[in-house]
Amino acid sequence: MLAENGGRMSLREFVAQALYHPEAGYYTSNIRTVGRRGDFSTSGTIENLRRPFARAISRWIQKNRFPHVIEVGAGDGSLAVAIMKSLSWWQRRKLRYHIVDASPKLITLQKQTLREAGLQATWHATMKQAVSATGGRASVFSNELVDAFPPDVFQWDAQNKEWLEVGLELSATGIITEACRKTTQSPELHTPFPDGQRIEVHFSYRDWLADWIPHAEKIAMLTVDYGDTTSKIYHRRPQGTLRAYFHHQRLTGDDVYARPGRQDITADVNFSHLESWGNALGMKASPLTTQSQFCQLNPSKNSETEQFQIIEQRL
Ligand SMILES: C[S@@+](CC[C@H](N)C(=O)[O-])C[C@H]1O[C@@H](n2cnc3c(N)ncnc32)[C@H](O)[C@@H]1O
Repeated sequence: MLAENGGRMSLREFVAQALYHPEAGYYTSNIRTVGRRGDFSTSGTIENLRRPFARAISRWIQKNRFPHVIEVGAGDGSLAVAIMKSLSWWQRRKLRYHIVDASPKLITLQKQTLREAGLQATWHATMKQAVSATGGRASVFSNELVDAFPPDVFQWDAQNKEWLEVGLELSATGIITEACRKTTQSPELHTPFPDGQRIEVHFSYRDWLADWIPHAEKIAMLTVDYGDTTSKIYHRRPQGTLRAYFHHQRLTGDDVYARPGRQDITADVNFSHLESWGNALGMKASPLTTQSQFCQLNPSKNSETEQFQIIEQRL
């Protein structure tokens, strides 16, 4: 992969190829499933978390009163089934369920999961197509979508007071190593950082949002993911949060670059960025909540759901 790119790649390019290369990407080609039999689990696939989560999302959908809902990145489809099943027969009849996903393999799985449950949805290749099919008015939600976008990775150089872009280089002996270089792109962060601090910024998600939000008329959007706000996310994480998952094993450092296309790569999400990128597109955000609060679960008994933040943005 690096040899084809002149021996150097930014981490964003590397992760984009490793996850979404049309023939060899993890999500596009090689993922088997999400959950116990896949490389990672989510609250959409863990049964005891899925039920309260699906109930809370269906309450939110009802509250919005839009006849259309768009789920972005629906994994194996089990959360979609749980959401539709928590609606009454009459509510389900009135609601049109749309799915947008970047993974042909997961789309096949979603279709099978919904068919087996006797439920229906409409799949769209892009958000623009989904928004157009809903007349621009819909509830839009995603669970663990943003963390699957390829992040730009930066490192703070305290001496020169500048952010460097972290990339990969191929040595003459064929070994992949990390390398930092100057960049004109700013991570938009002004908090003081220790020398060498690594951070990930999901600019690829910002670009994706800017591509379709202008085509929407009135939407309510719920984004659920692991991460936090700028003031909390980088604390005690000098190496950043970029990591890979292979058969549920968490891999960091150089192991993230091993097996490109055969393991998931992810990074925590900065929700302050999501809020400011949404604001720039005319959206209004509600205060962040944790998944436990959203699902009305006892936080002391649900440490997993405490790590997930939820931002609601309205256009
Ligand atoms: C980490 S998985 C989460 C799956 C599911 N939401 C769950 O909670 O189990 C990320 C999902 O987002 C999808 N995805 C990644 N990038 C996407 C994009 N740009 N547009 C739509 N779906 C995307 C992946 O194919 C996958 O279904």
